Amino acid sequence: MERTLMIIKPDAVAAKNIGNIVARVEKEGFHITGLRYMQLTQEQAGDFYAVHKERPFFGDLVRYMTSGPVVVGRLERANAVEHWRAVIGSTDPQKATDGTIRKSYGTSIEANAVHGSDSPENGAKETDFFFA
Ligand code: RTP
Ligand code: MG
Repeated sequence: MERTLMIIKPDAVAAKNIGNIVARVEKEGFHITGLRYMQLTQEQAGDFYAVHKERPFFGDLVRYMTSGPVVVGRLERANAVEHWRAVIGSTDPQKATDGTIRKSYGTSIEANAVHGSDSPENGAKETDFFFA
């Protein structure tokens, strides 16, 4: 079955939204086949977002993603990547539509509550990165 990686980011963990977000995952029909509460290292965060390393926000992004614990999950269902991206909404919570996780729990374009893989290939790669 198709896989996608969820990360409940430090802002959402700090705001006590782990339960709300995991409940939504289950309501959306995903099978949770891996779940870890963890602190990312600088190296893990930098490697994970390596595609953005030339972007002006990269330093801030690594600082933010290592600013507190996260919850990392392997989510499986048909069409997992596209479905999860639809459930989380736009990168910028202010542009996300009502009912999306980022609209409900995100507070800025950086502190946007959750991550989702952007292709089935990356869904497989990113879940292997945390659940080898
Ligand atoms: P993600 O990879 O975390 O699921 O987010 P995404 O695909 O919606 O957005 P992406 O372009 O991949 O950006 C990765 C994360 O970097 C932070 N960001 N900050 N300050 C900024 O302008 C800015 N832009 C992006 C966000 O945390 C974003 O989710
Ligand atoms: Mg992305």
